[in-house]
Amino acid sequence: MKTALIAPSILSADFSRLGDEVRAIDAAGADWIHLDVMDGHYVPNITFGPDIIRAIRKSSDKCFDAHLMISPVDDYLEAFGAAGVDRITVHAEATRHLDRTLQAIGAMGKKAGVALNPATPESVIEYVLDRLDLVLIMTVNPGFGGQRFIEAQVDKIRRVRRMIGDRPIIIEVDGGITPETAPRVIEAGASALVAGSAIFGRPPYARAIAALRGVPSTA
Ligand code: DX5
Ligand code: ZN
Repeated sequence: MKTALIAPSILSADFSRLGDEVRAIDAAGADWIHLDVMDGHYVPNITFGPDIIRAIRKSSDKCFDAHLMISPVDDYLEAFGAAGVDRITVHAEATRHLDRTLQAIGAMGKKAGVALNPATPESVIEYVLDRLDLVLIMTVNPGFGGQRFIEAQVDKIRRVRRMIGDRPIIIEVDGGITPETAPRVIEAGASALVAGSAIFGRPPYARAIAALRGVPSTA
């Protein structure tokens, strides 16, 4: 059976104990820590920025996977890089010049990703594929945790899989991922899964992570 990396989104964590929550998902077997940064402008919600990320950086050595839902994004890339993230994913619509933004992320020594909203066609990444480490396919509209999985995106995952060919690009899927939807997106070509409510809302975390992997757990 194919498996995927699991990236718990701390959007659904207890914000009053963020350091403890990051340590807990790290110990529970998370592969990456997914950081949903929202500006109240590109998306209708506000979360946290570089200072909070710097503060929780000491709670885990795992990959910090920043998903920036901010626009315009270019002026903030350096601050997130300096806060200690490993990957930076931007929305295709959040920058005027996507190629330039991806070059700036790469120049900082960070892994670069593009996020595709449910209504965004995969053609926007056609000419920047060689600058990408990751494509983030949104299976909900960005802004909130706990929304319903949008079925039409499964076909987009397959199309992106075909587009990237043998390039070493990770397909990450974000939104409405549960033990029921996880095997379907993995089958379509996803190799990393973001999950917020399906992990933080269903403790113990080790069991919730194992359930997304399709592995029975005794935790
Ligand atoms: C939505 C965020 C997601 C969100 C997923 O804008 O990008 O990462 O936390 O939450 P769930 O897993 O609850 O759909
Ligand atoms: Zn996200």
